[in-house]
Amino acid sequence: MSSASTSQPIVPKTDYIEEKEDEEAYWKIDAEICGMLPNLPKEKGWTSEDLVQYQGFWIYPTFALKAAVHLQHHFNLFQTTGSSTSAARGSLPMYFLATLPKSGTTWLRALMFATLNRSLYDAASPHHPLLTTGPHDCFPCLEMDNMLGNHDHSRPVTSLDHDHHDDRDGGDAMIDSYVPPTSTAQLFATHLPYSLFPKSVTTSSSNYGVSKFVYVCRNPKDVFISLWKFGSKVKAVNTGLAPFSLEEAFDLFCRGVCPYGPYWDHVLGFWKASLEMPEQVLFLKYEYLRKEPSANVKRLAEFLGQPFSEEEESKGVVQQIIKLCSFENLSSLEINKTSRTQQYLVKANIVVENSDFFRKGQVGDWKNFFTDDMAKRMDHIIDERFSGSGLTFANP
Ligand code: A3P
Repeated sequence: MSSASTSQPIVPKTDYIEEKEDEEAYWKIDAEICGMLPNLPKEKGWTSEDLVQYQGFWIYPTFALKAAVHLQHHFNLFQTTGSSTSAARGSLPMYFLATLPKSGTTWLRALMFATLNRSLYDAASPHHPLLTTGPHDCFPCLEMDNMLGNHDHSRPVTSLDHDHHDDRDGGDAMIDSYVPPTSTAQLFATHLPYSLFPKSVTTSSSNYGVSKFVYVCRNPKDVFISLWKFGSKVKAVNTGLAPFSLEEAFDLFCRGVCPYGPYWDHVLGFWKASLEMPEQVLFLKYEYLRKEPSANVKRLAEFLGQPFSEEEESKGVVQQIIKLCSFENLSSLEINKTSRTQQYLVKANIVVENSDFFRKGQVGDWKNFFTDDMAKRMDHIIDERFSGSGLTFANP
């Protein structure tokens, strides 16, 4: 018998913020953000909008900045108010898939969804939701789903609950099209750095139950090339502006200016947290996932409290999940070849095709683009930033 304990799909249940304090607090914080925005350092964006530097990280002002600030305020507020409903909500575990863009988000979204819902959806079934739903539509992105297109700003950043918001901005339609909610877990993807999460989320003794982070790290050289390729396409399609040249993009990346960067600070934040609290932060590497998918998927399942049973292993369930979520399989599906279904982006009228999330999926593609000087500069930064941390990169 399966050891997976779910009887409902593991999808977000996001009504963990109290309603009563939202309205007033929201507007106050919003005004605060508007006031701080002109004073934040600003740089040209890689995709469709500029980046601003907030608490050391380069983020998008329209949603990531708002999400970060609201998240901090709301969770703190929530913790101090507390109530019976908050206690009930707090018993639900929150699982975050955290990544820097282009580190393997799409892949891990699929793996987490398939692994956590395996008692409901047989990975080998021709009706598995991942065969007809893009990985970005299986569960929401914490910062984007809450902020993009939410022009009236009438609901709190962390509330995607049906009861909490109206449909003036199409929010209900967006949420309704996710797989139905469950009472067993809340699942989010996020690009926000660890340090921008409030203590109430990152501390295990929080009111919200156990929050866990699955972090995926990828070699910075491959992340850079993947980001440059992705950003160039999205920027051209959405703004008509010329994309960065390879040299310009590389210089920005090395200076730390990339979405949710600096790369090193983002990675190190989660790396250190994973060393200090291994039961709360699982640190995975894209390259190792490529090399040893089975060991990594088993680690993932165990970390999320649903280890594979011996029976499941002998039936090949792990391999079925790996095959379902493989680059080759996902990228060949009609839904990922021809559709544009990431709800948070559709809502904001930002054009990103599902196929844009699948390029080569290789380790070491950077070698096809880097000059010797670029490799030397990046290696130097890696040495400088990561020395003594214990973190090493597969650098084929
Ligand atoms: P490349 O551009 O190097 O091909 P993200 O999902 O974080 O946006 O990352 C996108 C990168 O992951 C792209 O890398 C993409 O091809 C790769 N990718 C997408 N799905 C994958 C999968 N199932 N397995 C491995 N890599 C995948």
